[in-house]
Parts: sequence; C-alpha cells; structure tokens
Amino acid sequence: MKFTVKKGDLTTVPCDALVVGVHAKSKSLPKQISALDRKLGGAITGALAFDDFSGDASQIVWLDKGRTKAKRVLVVGLGPEKDLTMATLRSAAGTALKAAQKAGLRKVALAMADSDDVEARASAVAEGGGLAMYDPAMHKSNSRSRPVTQVTIVTDAEPATVRSGLARGQALAAGTNLARDLVNEPANMLTPTDMAAVAKQMATDHATLKCKVWGPREIEKNKMGGIIGVGRGSAEPSQFIQLEYKPKGKVSSLRKIAFVGKGLTFDTGGISIKPAAGMELMKFDMGGAAAVLGAFKILALLEPKVHVLGYIASAENMPDGKAIKPGDLLTMMSGLTVEVNNTDAEGRLVLADALHYAKQQKPEFIVDAATLTGACMIALGDVACGLMSEDDKLVALIEDASRACDEPVWRLPLQDKHRKKMEGHVADLKNTGPREGGALTAAGFLSRFAEGARWAHLDIAGTVWNEEPEAIAPKGATGYGARLFAAIAEQVANGHR
Ligand code: BES
Ligand code: MN
Ligand code: ZN
Repeated sequence: MKFTVKKGDLTTVPCDALVVGVHAKSKSLPKQISALDRKLGGAITGALAFDDFSGDASQIVWLDKGRTKAKRVLVVGLGPEKDLTMATLRSAAGTALKAAQKAGLRKVALAMADSDDVEARASAVAEGGGLAMYDPAMHKSNSRSRPVTQVTIVTDAEPATVRSGLARGQALAAGTNLARDLVNEPANMLTPTDMAAVAKQMATDHATLKCKVWGPREIEKNKMGGIIGVGRGSAEPSQFIQLEYKPKGKVSSLRKIAFVGKGLTFDTGGISIKPAAGMELMKFDMGGAAAVLGAFKILALLEPKVHVLGYIASAENMPDGKAIKPGDLLTMMSGLTVEVNNTDAEGRLVLADALHYAKQQKPEFIVDAATLTGACMIALGDVACGLMSEDDKLVALIEDASRACDEPVWRLPLQDKHRKKMEGHVADLKNTGPREGGALTAAGFLSRFAEGARWAHLDIAGTVWNEEPEAIAPKGATGYGARLFAAIAEQVANGHR
C-alpha cells in the first residue's frame, strides 16, 4: 500500500473511494468537509441527521459520489472530538480501508485536516491502515485478497510533516505485520533454521542491522545447557540468533540495551506432552522472538539514536528417544544446575542461557518477551501482557513505552518468595514450582540468570494471539511486542532513565 500526500480540494481528487472522518455530536462540519458536503448535496449532514449514523467511532456509511471525482464516498465516525485518541484514529482508518477493500476499491483518497498533532495523526492513519490490510491467508491457493494499493492523503497541512508521520506509521505496521507473519506461519514452514534465515536476511536488507547465528556446534561449545537440553528431542537444529542495531553515522555515547525473545517454533511439551486439543496453537510459542524481529525491523526503519542488542533462543520442543526426561539434570551456561521436573516448562530453560549471554554484553538493561506460561494467560487474558521486574525505574520506563505505543502491560509481583519456590532438590534449581502463581515463579526462575543486571520480563502468552477479529487485528497472530520493544528503545533514545 503506497501513501502519497496532496494539498488541495477533496472534491477534485480522482479516486475509487473518498474517505472522510466525521466527529460525533459536532454542531458544524470543518471547512474541508462542509465544502464536500455541498458537492454531495448535503448527504453528510443528511446522514448525521438520522439515527443510523451518529459519527460514533469506526461507524461507517457509504454515500453517492455526488459532484466529486470519486467513485464512492465513505464517511467514517471518529467519536466525539474531545475524546479523540490515536487508538480511535488507527481503528477508524483501518475500518475505512477494510470497507474500501471489501467493496473492491483499490485507490483511496483520505481527508486529513491540519492540526497541531497532524504528524501523529498521519502516523496513526498509516499504522491503522497497514495493520488492517494484514491478511493471514498466507497459504491459501487462491493467494491473498487484493488490498487497497494506493492511499492519497488530501490535506491543508504541511505535506512534509504529514509524510514523516505516514512513514512512521508504515514502519510500525511493517514490523508488527512481520511479527504476525512469523507467528501465523505453521511450524513446519518456520523452523529455528528458517527463523535464523529471516534474521540474516533483515541484516542484509538494512545497513544498520547485524546478525550472527550460532548453530548446534557453537551452542554446544558455549555450554548453553538449557538450549541444548530443550532441542535434544527434535530433528531440527536449535539456533541462537544474535542481532545488533546501531544508527548510521558516528553517534557518541549511545546507550546500549538488550532484548531477548523465546523462539520455540513448536512446543509439544516434550516427554511431559501436552493434550492434543489445541496443541496446534503452540506454533505461536516463538511470539517473543517474532516481537524481537519485528522491533528490529521498526528500528531499522525509524533509526532512533540508541544501540540495541537482540537475542533469540530458538528450538523445537519434541518427545523422542533422545529428548530430556522429567527429573533430568541440565548445567546451564551460567554454571547453575537445573532439575527438569517438567519438560513442558522449556521456555525458561532456553531463556536462561539467552539472558546469561545478554548480561555478559553489559547492556544498561535487558527486557525479555516470552509466551511463557498458561498461568499468565489465565490471569490477564488477551488484553495486557504480564510485566515482572524488581526494578521500579525500568518498570516506569516500560509503562511509558506501553502508553506511547498502546500495547498494554500489567505489572505482576516478583519477589524473593517466588525465587525460593524454585530451589532444586539435588540441583541449584528446579524448572517448575507450584501451580499457584505460575507466571511469577517462572519469572523467579529467570531472575536467577539475570542476577546483577537490570532486567524486566514480559509474559506475552495471552497477548500474542487473537481469537476474535478486531478492526486492525484479524484473527490469529497480533504481532504483540514488536511496537512495545521499539517504543522501549525510543524511550531510551529520548533520554528516559
Ligand atoms: N508455551 C507454554 C506456555 C503457554 C501455554 C502459552 C498455553 C500459551 C498457552 C510453556 O512452554 C508451557 O508449556 N508452560 C507450562 C509451564 C508449566 C509446565 C509449569 C504451562 O504454562 O502450563
Ligand atoms: Mn511448554
Ligand atoms: Zn513453550
């Protein structure tokens, strides 16, 4: 989908669909739209006069073209003006473009009035539009549906400002849609090796990105006992993917941070095998890794002034004659020993090594994202991810980032008590605690490998997947975490401590 910006008159733009936003309960239409209303013979004020269109957020109504150069006119509600948020704009833009697509209209013109925050609004429109056009039907034999190809923003604002907003929104959508693609991809189509190839390709595509991958030999050489143990039952070789983002040019005193992602391309549970019903969803167990890759895409496109390291521990958790068994002992990269009471608590095992490795690179802080526990999903549902950290300042930074990008987080407690429950019988640690507070003891386990570093953990088990389609998120992978990671990096670039 291509965006262009045009100054001038709405009524003279040739297009398939002319989209205008209208606020609810507004006494008069803004200048740009009242001129259009006259050319439509008062159709917009007419629609508002009846009860079936009130201008409520994301309500739509199609109108006849009147004396315009459009084929059809689409009015989309923006809700009351005083309540307007960027979230409302994203959804309204997405709803409008989807309606145009459904009607078979490819070339859209979209009205945007000048405002103090027109750059942010342009960003929201491009982000919402880009997210709404996402189609998960990647493997349907009649290919993907034909999306809207061209969006012309018709505005009286400074075109350069609008363009810069659009570029930002497109970058956010591109990174999120990349994460969605990776998560929706079936596990036989996206193995750890495939995920490494995606990372390497990204580094080829963007001069600001570097990528290094460790295969089984290097993982073995570096004694990453967690990753080795989890991958042992699989025919697919495990991969430890290392990414680095640095903006172009010499920027002095860049702050350095690290992101870590759980990249289980499939989680059967291993010998502690999961029930058959719903197991197919466990292709999403690389959602944390997808968030890291999506974020690096966004970073490469937006180029914030911050140095970011990314680590993905990727493996497939399978039952096999070679697989680890309940009770087995693993010696992790950090030297800590772990009794594997349950082979289905594998995420924390691969993350332990990735966190330890990340820590050795001495970043200012580490944030990991992982589809780690069903318990977190039960606690928070699909609305917010669980945020666990003992570092109040880092929590504040992540909460600010979360508000900036509208990916919600909810803090859960992480205390010494949770760590205590993970003490092993014959080893330093065991990998499962009691059923109660399962998300918190998982974080307690991880904290033993992040010790000494500033660190926060995001359990995205509930937010990675969407059962009910929404305006800008179809059923399936949400791409959650890509924008949050990118927003965290931007907070650092903007001087947040
Ligand atoms: N990938 C799962 C977590 C998960 C389960 C996410 C269901 C979303 C939905 C993880 O590897 C896992 O199996 N966790 C276990 C841990 C338990 C054995 C302590 C869980 O949550 O049941
Ligand atoms: Mn598991
Ligand atoms: Zn898992």
